[in-house]
Amino acid sequence: MNEDPPAPTEMVYPLTSTEPDVSRETEPLPDDETPIAAAAATAARIRGGRTDTWPRPVSTRVLTVANQKGGVGKTTTTVNIAAALALHGLRVLVIDLDPQGNASTALAVPHHAGEPSVYEVLIEGEPLATALHEVEAVPGLACVPATIDLAGAEIELVSLVARESRLQRALSALLQESTETGQAFDFVFIDCPPSLGLLTINAFVAASEVLIPIQCEYYALEGLGQLIRNVELIQSHLNPDLAVSTILLTMYDGRTRLAAQVADEVRSHFDDLVLATAIPRSVRVSEAPSYSQTVLTYDPGSSGALSYLEAAREMAHRAATGGGGATT
Ligand SMILES: Nc1ncnc2c1ncn2[C@@H]1O[C@H](COP(=O)(O)OP(=O)(O)O)[C@@H](O)[C@H]1O
Ligand SMILES: [Mg+2]
Repeated sequence: MNEDPPAPTEMVYPLTSTEPDVSRETEPLPDDETPIAAAAATAARIRGGRTDTWPRPVSTRVLTVANQKGGVGKTTTTVNIAAALALHGLRVLVIDLDPQGNASTALAVPHHAGEPSVYEVLIEGEPLATALHEVEAVPGLACVPATIDLAGAEIELVSLVARESRLQRALSALLQESTETGQAFDFVFIDCPPSLGLLTINAFVAASEVLIPIQCEYYALEGLGQLIRNVELIQSHLNPDLAVSTILLTMYDGRTRLAAQVADEVRSHFDDLVLATAIPRSVRVSEAPSYSQTVLTYDPGSSGALSYLEAAREMAHRAATGGGGATT
């Protein structure tokens, strides 16, 4: 397993020396130049508030985070990119559309069975606002949770009117309402389950952008064709505005040649849709959800937090259609 590098403190100042000729008066490194100090300084900057505010998009950007493979980093990407944008002054909403409720867990939003959630919105036509929670640890970030009730929604949706556009209707109403009250959302992220069923279709119809996390491993590109074809089908039948705008390489292991090959291949296929920042494999990223946190609050100076921050910065500065680094 790959871990963040251990702190090198013991190596720098040995307490005893077995070599009598070696001077003990080695100059210590200045405080701000040790790796620990640099990480601490970054952490302090992130915790201490916004150092810079990123540009707001002209209108709300709604992104569906999709990949029918499980375990590629959809949820991790959703919560961490959303938190990074909120920490830089943007108003952000996460809609958890996976019955497992992992995004709700990472954002510490209550999601026991029976709690108002996206299930009631989709099946009973409740407004999204009734299930919306502010995320305590991250000002500016809100979340609509998923409970286990959502597991039955794929089947229950089949017989409902306008079954593909129920989320889209609810989201349009919420966005209009929040704009009217001066609380407009800048970004909405919809975290999808690992399938291309009716829940994911609802997300595609509600969004104008698709963000695809790709795990840098051997089978990474398998199934991607099917995903893209589905996006095209939705585009031609249900939502002409939909496009894949962003691809993010996740769990990148810089020590393996395979990861570099996968990254090269993805970049050659998708060109500048792929963010320049790849997210490294980092234990801090995988630990954060068990403390009901994003990695940005759990360990702000870690490589995972810094990479998600950088990836979010790229997204904020890109045009909604992706590519080219154009500002919105
Ligand atoms: N950069 C990373 N480094 C280490 N572990 C990661 C990283 N990104 C995700 N993980 C872990 O991989 C697993 C799958 O990630 P997750 O975001 O839940 O995928 P998905 O939502 O696509 O199923 C989780 O246990 C998560 O903590
Ligand atoms: Mg997930």
